[in-house]
This record gives sequence, C-alpha cells and structure tokens, in this order.
Amino acid sequence: MTKNKYYHIITYGCQMNEHDSEKLAGMLENIGYNNTNKLENADIVLLNTCTIRENAELKVFGKLGQLKEYKRKNPDLIIGIGGCMMQLEEPVEEIYKKYRHVDLIFGTHNIHQVPELIKKIEKNRERVVEVWDQEEGLIPDLPSQRESEHSAWISIIQGCDNFCTYCIVPYVRGRERSRPLEAIIKEAEKLAAEGVKEVTLLGQNVNSYGNDLAEEIDFPLLLEELNKVDSLARIRFMTSHPRDFSEKLLLAIKNLEKVAKHIHLPIQSGSNKILKEMNRGYSREYYIDTVKEIQNKMPEAAISTDFIVGFPGESDEDFEQTLKLVKELRFDMAYTFIYSPRSGTPAAKREDQIAEEVKKERLNKLMDIQNRISYQKNQKLIGKIQKILVTGPSNRDENVYEGRTGTNKICFINKRPDLIGKIVKVKIDSAKSWTLQGTVVE
Ligand code: 5AD
Ligand code: SF4
Repeated sequence: MTKNKYYHIITYGCQMNEHDSEKLAGMLENIGYNNTNKLENADIVLLNTCTIRENAELKVFGKLGQLKEYKRKNPDLIIGIGGCMMQLEEPVEEIYKKYRHVDLIFGTHNIHQVPELIKKIEKNRERVVEVWDQEEGLIPDLPSQRESEHSAWISIIQGCDNFCTYCIVPYVRGRERSRPLEAIIKEAEKLAAEGVKEVTLLGQNVNSYGNDLAEEIDFPLLLEELNKVDSLARIRFMTSHPRDFSEKLLLAIKNLEKVAKHIHLPIQSGSNKILKEMNRGYSREYYIDTVKEIQNKMPEAAISTDFIVGFPGESDEDFEQTLKLVKELRFDMAYTFIYSPRSGTPAAKREDQIAEEVKKERLNKLMDIQNRISYQKNQKLIGKIQKILVTGPSNRDENVYEGRTGTNKICFINKRPDLIGKIVKVKIDSAKSWTLQGTVVE
C-alpha cells in the first residue's frame, strides 16, 4: 500500500490569494495529495505570498526561516513558494541564493503548472524556478478545493491598469483581463448545483469588468445575469474603484435582490493634493457625492473603505482632510494602512517620506475615530432583524456560531449545527465596533 501524502498551504494577503490557494489545493488533490493542518505532517508545503506592504514580505521571510528546521528533520519535504512576491526579481533572487531549502519558486501567472513542476522535483530532486511575466496561451479552468461548502469566490477580472503611485499590484498581477461572461455564469451555476449559497466576485477593480472584452458587457450586466442563477442566494463583490462607480451600477445593486447591499469603495485619502499624487483619478468632492448618492438611494447599504496614512508629502492639513471626511461620511467599516514604500513604484522614489512615528500617530488617530463610528452604527442595529448566512463555529469558541449579514458584518449566535449553510433571520442583541451578537428568530 502506498503511503498517504499530505500538503499544507500557507496563504498571505488578499482574497485573490486565498482563491488561488484553493486552486493550488485542488490541483494537489488531483495528483494524490491530501490536506493537513499540521505543518509537521506535510510532504509539501506551499507559501502563497503577498507583497502589498513590507510587513507581508517580512512574515514570509520569517516563515521561510522556520521551514529550514522542518527540512532538516525531513529532507524529502518539498517547499514551494509562489504568489505576488515571486513576480519581483529581488525577492526571487534572495530566496534562490539564501534559502537553499526552497525547492520550487513559481509566479501568479503560472499556478496551473504547479503539479507538473512538483512531479519534476519528485523525479529529479532538483530546484525549479518558473515565473512568467504574463499569462501565455489559454490558461485552463483549474479545479478548486474550497474552504467553505456554502460560500465561494469567483474571479471575474484579473490584474489592474490603474497604476496608483503607491501600489505594486499592477506590476505583479499584470494588466486587466476580464473573464468571459459565459465562463463566469457557468462556474456560478456549477457552484450553486454543489450547494453554494453565496458567491463573492473578485477583481482589483470589478467596475472595469468587460472593458477589455469585444462584446458590450459591463459589470451591472454581469450582476443581472448572475442574479438569475437559481438557488444562489447572495452575490457579493469586491473591490470597486470610486472613479468607475456608475449610476447604472448603483441601480443594479439596489434592484437585484440577490446582490448584497455592501460596497467596498477605497478612498485612500481625503486630501485632493494627495489623491492627485496617488493618481486615483477622482477628487474628494466627487467621492463624497458618490457616497451620498449611495446613502440616499440605498440607505440600508453598508459602505466600507481603505485608507493609507503617511503617503509621501502628506501634511498635517492633508491628514486633517482625511479625518474630516471620515466624520462626515460615517463609513460602516474602514481598513487603515500605514504607507509602505514598494520598490519600483513612483511614490517609493520620493524624498519627502513621512517619519514612522508620525505615520503611527496618524493611524491611531484615524482608527480611534473610525472605531467609534463603527460602534455607533452597529449599536443602531440593536433590536433590528438582520439576515445572516450561518458559516459555523467561530474561530475563538466552538460553542459560538457565526455568520455574515448582507452588509458584511460578522454576527455571533448560539451553537446551531442545523443552521450551517442557511440564511436565517437574527434579532441583534448587542454590538461592538467589528461584530454583532444576535438571536435566531426564524
Ligand atoms: N502601502 C500601504 N497600503 C497600501 N495599499 C496598497 N498599496 C499600499 C502601500 N504601498 C492598501 C490600499 C489598498 C489596500 C488593498 O491596500 O489601501 O486599497
Ligand atoms: Fe493598486 Fe490602485 Fe490597482 Fe487598487 S486600483 S490594485 S490600489 S493600482
């Protein structure tokens, strides 16, 4: 009898990476490997890396250091590393030269090759580096080993053409490529048939969906078509670029009953000077008008955003503009980041970088204000009914179950295994800045 072989995948970064990791898992299962949660039991370890901020890279190097010990104990262990960081020359060179226990380096454009590259390593026991600059030829649809039975990701557009001056994404994920509408619908139908209730459409900028396709297809039309897929209950999407957020899209979200009323609309800064230098393509006033329009037409919708503090040249007044905007627009949620210079991007070359202490101070100030607003907004939900998709036990306590509202808020309920995968009505009993607590009423 042949011994069972196990894989362990460690994922860093965004949902796009988590989705790619599910595909890596699917491909490894196809060549006879099983998943293990325990690194020490693995025959293959894959790291799927992120390079959006320096912190993400530091974590990867830390993990690679740890893996050396595992390789020493088990010389047959295959260690592979892929993802966004591997699309950059510098880290690839460093890993190849200094981390000799790494067997495989692959990129974001050729994950479909991973099974054959692993077989090559199994056979020849040689180190393999295979990173493509861009996708070549027709990339096959890949099998996927999903984390959740009831929720699934669907990638609708890859890459980004925006070149915000701080951002590394266009360099590591390439130009915008929309998937054909039929392929997306087919995938959604297949997922629905397998019991998936909720899909999340992924793209760096979902609003540009279809711009590069020959047919007259856009994102609102895609939502309309997906809304028709029987037995799908909820359609989420992220991320929207404010510049491309149209009236037509707002109406589609409002009118299509399966589309979740949550819009993630990263603003990055409240200062016109900084927005211009970031190359965001919109002004503070335009953004405020867009959000107010959403709040007017769809008062039940939740709006979340991203901020970067400490972009080069950000003055106290610029930062004040950000604080003022946060107080005025009252987001449901905001992800706040300290600007991290990424080598190769225009902003990293600037000489007017902001001191670390100033960045941290600004981050804390912004987080304090936003947390208070999130808390107040969630408090208003107490006593109200929300619909949640129950996903199962929470990470912290297996006697507490959790689910998400259509507005993307996490809600805890008492243990109810019978409700996993169901959308149920919950009366909200209490609320914090990031989570709700409720009682199932139906
Ligand atoms: N430094 C800090 N935050 C960044 N983001 C993108 N690039 C950087 C960077 N260099 C943030 C943006 C984006 C989110 C995904 O990550 O806010 O919306
Ligand atoms: Fe990066 Fe800007 Fe593209 Fe978002 S829109 S991925 S921030 S370049």
